[in-house]
Amino acid sequence: MSKDSLTITDNRTGQSYEIPIENGTVRAMDLRKIKVADEDFGLMTYDPAFTNTAPCKSRITFIDGDRGILNYRGYPIEQLAERSSYLETAYLILHGELPTKAQYEAWAHNITHHTIVHENIKELMGAFRYDAHPMGMLMSTVAALSTFYPAAKQIHDPQARRDQTFRLIAKVPTLAAFAHRHSVGMPYAYPDNDLSYCGNFLNMMFKMTELKYKVNPVLERALEVLFILHADHEQNCSTSAMRGVGSSEVDPYSATAAAIAALYGPLHGGANEMVLRMLHQIGSREKVPQFIKDVKQSGGEVRLMGFGHRVYKNYDPRAKIIKRMADQVFQVTGRNPLLEIALELERIALEDDYFVKRKLYPNVDFYSGLIYQAMGFPVDMFPVLFAIPRTSGWLAQWDEMLQDKDQKIARPRQVYLGAAQRDYLPLDARG
Ligand code: CMC
Repeated sequence: MSKDSLTITDNRTGQSYEIPIENGTVRAMDLRKIKVADEDFGLMTYDPAFTNTAPCKSRITFIDGDRGILNYRGYPIEQLAERSSYLETAYLILHGELPTKAQYEAWAHNITHHTIVHENIKELMGAFRYDAHPMGMLMSTVAALSTFYPAAKQIHDPQARRDQTFRLIAKVPTLAAFAHRHSVGMPYAYPDNDLSYCGNFLNMMFKMTELKYKVNPVLERALEVLFILHADHEQNCSTSAMRGVGSSEVDPYSATAAAIAALYGPLHGGANEMVLRMLHQIGSREKVPQFIKDVKQSGGEVRLMGFGHRVYKNYDPRAKIIKRMADQVFQVTGRNPLLEIALELERIALEDDYFVKRKLYPNVDFYSGLIYQAMGFPVDMFPVLFAIPRTSGWLAQWDEMLQDKDQKIARPRQVYLGAAQRDYLPLDARG
């Protein structure tokens, strides 16, 4: 008998089955042959929230949650954050290798020359109320882009996929900045091709009446690092949405809009916004112990936002990098007064039995908002700042899914526990 297999005995029938083990997994479809009778459907797995199910094989991002390791295409996140740029990292994530100089220049040129959006998009933006959440505006306008590029439907054509990849990575910051400017009633600032990806985003966000926006190099670098840290994170909720929706062979703008929707939720990319609101609500360092008490007594209802992770059962390596970087940013912007509350929350939580036992550590969202706020981004923009860099990760995962022969339209099963078949009764015959 091969060693790489699992022997299962079905105690209902006494029959044994041998199931192959490959890459530490068994194929759920192999369980289907386990039946009590010929007409039986066969055994399924029940896995709400996919806590122990791998829906794909991937070569993009590796996470070891117990050891706090995150690598993109084999490169440790710490090295990329220290030495790479966001655009170079996005190339790596999408292509599997770091670019040569010529490849990088062509890539950066293509992204830079797709940043402008069709003028009609401005009218679409203008239809939103002044207080519309920018994440809702981003989601809608990214979905709208699919109507501007009907060729995007040709998802099996590699050149068409590449074109939409350039466009999406290039245009998402423009849409994000336009959403912000709409909400503050400022005229839209157009892209400046002389600037880097992050420098241009700062320009489109914050340019006032000056002819040329002057980018602060410390803030530009901080944004590069934050974007690198957020570029991909394997099969999380929004990536699963991208793959799941993309598996129906819809165009990538529509699938990305779905991924943005998934990211918007407070348990995912909306958490950075919720952290800031939580820190404001706590109000002062002295009130931290009471807040921790409230979290513990709430039975899971009140959460310490920015803490805990499905995969990391250790300090999130991204949070470590962000925490270190905060000092450099605060030297330029001044210290965010909420930092005192965050540090005290972390100190108490890391010593408290409730958090220690459940292995709850700060995640990427715990400190990122403090930096974004110090840089002048409104709190509403925080999830949008997560969506911009994650676009490259979503597209890489989408591309990998489309080229994977094992994949087809996502269609999970269910365990039906509802009523057995019964006959319809007319209204006047019901009791
Ligand atoms: N504060 C207090 N208790 C918590 C927290 C928290 N932040 N997170 C988990 N717990 C408790 C939870 O109540 C449960 O306790 P018990 O075993 O007594 O029922 C236990 O820890 C396990 O929690 P879970 O909800 O089963 O864990 P999960 O893996 O399903 O959830 C999570 C992961 C990230 C949704 C969750 O930790 C959470 O809600 N955190 C706060 C929101 C947050 O910061 N999200 C950002 C995640 S990182 C960015 C991203 O990639 O999205």
